[in-house]
Amino acid sequence: LDNGLALTPPMGWLSWERFRCNTDCKNDPDNCISENLFKTMADHIVSEGYKDAGYEYVNIDDCWLSHERDAQGRLQADPDRFPSGIKALADYIHDKGLKFGIYEDIGTHTCGGYPGVEYYFQQDAQQFADWGVDFVKLDGCYIDSKEFDTAYPAFGHWMNKTGRHMVYSCSWPAYQSGHMTPDYPSIAKYCNLWRNYGDIQDSWDSVQDIITWFGKDAGNFSAVTGPGAWNDPDMLIIGDYGLSIDQQKAQMAMWAMMAAPLIMSTDLRNIRPESKAILQNKGVIAINQDPMGKMGKVVYTQSNVQLWSRPILPEGSVAFAYLYTGTGGTPSHIQDVVTNAGLTSSRGYNVTCAFTGKHIGYFKPTDKFDLHVDPTGVFLGIAKIF
Ligand code: GLA
Repeated sequence: LDNGLALTPPMGWLSWERFRCNTDCKNDPDNCISENLFKTMADHIVSEGYKDAGYEYVNIDDCWLSHERDAQGRLQADPDRFPSGIKALADYIHDKGLKFGIYEDIGTHTCGGYPGVEYYFQQDAQQFADWGVDFVKLDGCYIDSKEFDTAYPAFGHWMNKTGRHMVYSCSWPAYQSGHMTPDYPSIAKYCNLWRNYGDIQDSWDSVQDIITWFGKDAGNFSAVTGPGAWNDPDMLIIGDYGLSIDQQKAQMAMWAMMAAPLIMSTDLRNIRPESKAILQNKGVIAINQDPMGKMGKVVYTQSNVQLWSRPILPEGSVAFAYLYTGTGGTPSHIQDVVTNAGLTSSRGYNVTCAFTGKHIGYFKPTDKFDLHVDPTGVFLGIAKIF
């Protein structure tokens, strides 16, 4: 969507994967979906260095709403869990120099059963603008999937009419890709980012399944990726319960290769230093945020090794990832001609490891890489052209 926003993949924090629809503030006040949770996360994004690393959106997911609209038909937050109201929460987040995102659904109800925007497009878009919302995630439950191609552009029209700049995150193709080929050129025209596929869960199986699905590029969605238009493979689960350190690096690396939004969903109050370092790794974030915004693609999949390559600036340079999905217990020894990773210019390349910044060597197209990649791990390289 050409609205001047999300020129690189959005970076931020979203409640859903880690905190779900926990509405039990009586028994679990520190973890329930409430204004306190979002304020606390905003505090940590600033004090723990995430803001400096580039994370800026603090986004609410489902279960923030009251089950009923007010007497004027307006959406309202649950009064017990958001006693100060959404405007005050947005102000708090803005005062920290961050941006504020909200969740709704294009149908009659959100996936969690709260009121959706259907029949209220204009009013709800205006409400978001009045509250100071910067980012709208619009889910796709409780609507006939045949209506997506008209409903998502229609809500976007009303968002645009408000005059407030809001990033538009659609779930449109995620509800279509199981039974048809989504119209990606149209989706990229009307949305800044879009969920293509199912929900991430807290496991390596889930991360690997998502990488495999995106690697197939069914419908050629890589072609429509670029400034203002991003495929969204869903949240980062780095820092949660399900992934080893190697797997966390692998998720971060592959989200960088896919030019994916970097939306954390983890408890920033209790995160191990290793996970925090992965989330804040400058080399990997630089690949993700490359201004050309080209999505990486799979070069080959062989013996549990998948090679991805992505063009980055300066022009002619590439990022590449060897993802090793084997579980044989010992690292995979990879000896591969560098042209496979996209190092095809006779000018040659200076290659570094994205995670450590370590210099790997100078390579000509006739050379080979000689790398060791941990099981369910990755080697992420940056090859700068001479
Ligand atoms: C859907 C979305 C998730 C989350 C939940 C909330 O499943 O894909 O990301 O927003 O709804 O109910």
